[in-house]
Amino acid sequence: MDESVAWRLSEMANGMERSRILSIAASVRAMIAEGKAVAPFTVGDFSPTQFEVPSPLIDAIIEAVSEGETNYPPAAGLPELRSALANWMHEKYGLDVGSDGIIVGSGARPVLYASFRLFLEPGDGLAHGVPAWNNHYYVHLNGAIDIPLQGTPESRFLPTASQIESRIEDIRVLILNSPLNPTGTCFTANELRDICHVVLNENRNRSEDGRKPVILVYDQVYSTMTADGIDHVHPVQVCPEIFDYTITLDAISKSLTGTGLRLGWMALPPALAPPVVALIGHMGAWPARPIQKAAAKLYEDQATLESYFDDLDDRILSRMSLLQSRLDPLSQYGVNYVEPEGGIYLSTHFDLFELLNVTTNEEIRQWLLDEAGVAVVPFQAFGLEEDTGWFRISIGAVSVDDISQAMDRLEQALTNASSH
Ligand SMILES: Cc1ncc(COP(=O)(O)O)c(C=O)c1O
Repeated sequence: MDESVAWRLSEMANGMERSRILSIAASVRAMIAEGKAVAPFTVGDFSPTQFEVPSPLIDAIIEAVSEGETNYPPAAGLPELRSALANWMHEKYGLDVGSDGIIVGSGARPVLYASFRLFLEPGDGLAHGVPAWNNHYYVHLNGAIDIPLQGTPESRFLPTASQIESRIEDIRVLILNSPLNPTGTCFTANELRDICHVVLNENRNRSEDGRKPVILVYDQVYSTMTADGIDHVHPVQVCPEIFDYTITLDAISKSLTGTGLRLGWMALPPALAPPVVALIGHMGAWPARPIQKAAAKLYEDQATLESYFDDLDDRILSRMSLLQSRLDPLSQYGVNYVEPEGGIYLSTHFDLFELLNVTTNEEIRQWLLDEAGVAVVPFQAFGLEEDTGWFRISIGAVSVDDISQAMDRLEQALTNASSH
């Protein structure tokens, strides 16, 4: 950076990184605009032409605007929305925080940011799995000590209880995400229970010596999207005593494919809520009033919601199963994946180092883009440093036909490469 720019900025601003996913996505968009055949498996967004938000939501937004719902909403959210979300979370996940324990924000990000600000002092330990979405940026924003817990294909890239236990003394906030972005894998009840027990044991010790407890931030923005035979599990379902230490984050960004509508929420023990309300208020990070009105109506109508979730699961499944069936025969070239369990992502191993005579993920990424029009994001964008050949494929912005054509191109490119 230009020195005179750095001189004027704070340390925090100087150290701020751009999202690598968004820069890759921007270059892919530019290629598509030039007319190149590229399948955008890059962003965790939804193309509205492939995945529409529920139509009752749109109708209710329009109605709210036309009825003059245009002034400030209350800082914690409209009471009817907080109540509808509290009921929904209680029924679906057994988490009972009541209306007072629900604080809404403009997407999951403001409440995610707020949940770190609530607990972390500079120098406190923030533990997160690797690969995982965006945690390393939040470590920086909070002046926290980074505690990465590196996943492996064997752990389905999820952090394990024993890894957490080995670092527990240094941890103030542990963030877990399930279904996990970027891997599309989910904690089982047993895995999550073991982790909760590690946290509770540590907190028992800390309450005796007066140290602040470990807080579990549970990001479940993809909770409604699970593969056949997989159930999303919330920590309180497997370990009710974890309630006092758990902050849950959710949003309509993924579950209703409304990334641009900006509505997320935090569910927490109500006694902890007042500073969050103040923080969201100071940031002005409320969702717009019309979306709050509309979401309140939709979340009161759980039958409509559930049928929307079922339909969405079918659309995700049609894309995932096509991808899998087209990738399976490519294992002969070194292409494999981790069985998808939830969300919209597939952890894909393009182990093409030998075939292409290259040494880095970046070279593989560029080859996939140039030779096959397959745009993917390396796990390095999610904190994994090594060049291991692992990439995230996202199906949110592609049609079944896009996948089919991309896999034709990939198969051809791999055949050509192997015949050289
Ligand atoms: C795991 C996870 N949490 C939170 C978010 C942020 O969601 P929002 O767009 O609602 O801020 C994302 C977005 O990709 C995500 O993948």
